[in-house]
Amino acid sequence: MHQWASLAAAAALLANGAVAQFNMLRFACSQLVVDRVDPLVNPGMRYTPHLHQIVGGNSFNLTMTPVEYDLAKRSTCTSCSFKQDKSNYWTAVMFFKHKNGSYHRVPQVGNGGPQGQLINNGGLDVYYIPSGRVTAFAPGFRMLAGEAANTDDSKVPRGNICHRCWTSTNENQFVGGAPCTGSDTVGIPQDPSCKMIRQTIIFPACWDGQNLDTPDHKSHVAYGKGSGATGGGSCPSTHPVKLPQVMYEIMWDVSAFADRSMWPESGPAFIYSMNLGGSAAHGDYLFGWEGDTLQRAMDNGCNLNADCPSAGLTAQKPEEYNACTIQQQAPEPVDGWLASMPMGEMAVRA
Ligand SMILES: *[C@@H]1O[C@H](CO)[C@@H](O)[C@H](O)[C@H]1NC(C)=O
Ligand SMILES: *[C@@H]1O[C@H](CO)[C@@H](O)[C@H](O)[C@H]1NC(C)=O
Repeated sequence: MHQWASLAAAAALLANGAVAQFNMLRFACSQLVVDRVDPLVNPGMRYTPHLHQIVGGNSFNLTMTPVEYDLAKRSTCTSCSFKQDKSNYWTAVMFFKHKNGSYHRVPQVGNGGPQGQLINNGGLDVYYIPSGRVTAFAPGFRMLAGEAANTDDSKVPRGNICHRCWTSTNENQFVGGAPCTGSDTVGIPQDPSCKMIRQTIIFPACWDGQNLDTPDHKSHVAYGKGSGATGGGSCPSTHPVKLPQVMYEIMWDVSAFADRSMWPESGPAFIYSMNLGGSAAHGDYLFGWEGDTLQRAMDNGCNLNADCPSAGLTAQKPEEYNACTIQQQAPEPVDGWLASMPMGEMAVRA
């Protein structure tokens, strides 16, 4: 069960000479909706500049004003494993570009690996990785990792946002080492031999201790000295409060697009919904755990996606969290072959 944690600990050993075994939360979140809505970057806007895939509590809405809009109270279900987690998590969507000019959304599947299979209906997997004593997020907290308009791979630390080519069709066939190490790349692999592409987004784990948000949704948090999924490392004096390290993992199933004859003559076959590559990958996070359940989960060493009575955590069955979905608030087709990506004329540059 702890093989990957050992890998992470080994990476921490290389980085700072200390070995720490730790438990962490690791759980599935199925698709709540695929929609052009973004209450963090574009509150109130319908048909945001690009399409997102969203998971978590069903109170997800166009406008979610910090504190005032209480996700935990308003949500009546969550598409994530733990019943107590009404947070919202979202990212851009990956598209395959056919050489005939049509686009197809790349499906997302569950994640396997040495820590056990997670069962998803679309969506992504979420990790909360503590290192030492951590302070859970406060109600109303939100943040953004990555930059949706970035076109320069060299501006992205590969230890935080990365992609891995998964050459096995079996997601339980673990490929490679700890996240964002080895041959992982900032760009999206463009290789027909990849059966899946795993995207990892690691959030900053250091907080200024004061602001629930800032205008850029980033300045209130900072990355620590660590790299990769090791809990974040020590925090800078400007952002001294150690948070749980939030990590998203998305398994993009590209196996239906392996036929090279469908690929564009030039340029990438796989792109994100901004019509940009991996350097523009980003993740949005709105904290919404009930009461102090996340703090207690961290304090009590709750592990993976199992029930954790000491923290009041209950793990739902896949059929329960899969049943939590909402309607698009910006209705448009997002499935099948599309003549254009859902952005076009209605796009407003973020
Ligand atoms: C979304 O916000 C609108 C307007 O404030 C509100 O009427 C609606 O009930 C909200 N939807 C959900 C799912 O909370
Ligand atoms: C492109 O190819 C796909 C797959 O064969 C097809 O469904 C779609 O209609 C084609 N689009 C155009 C514009 O010909």
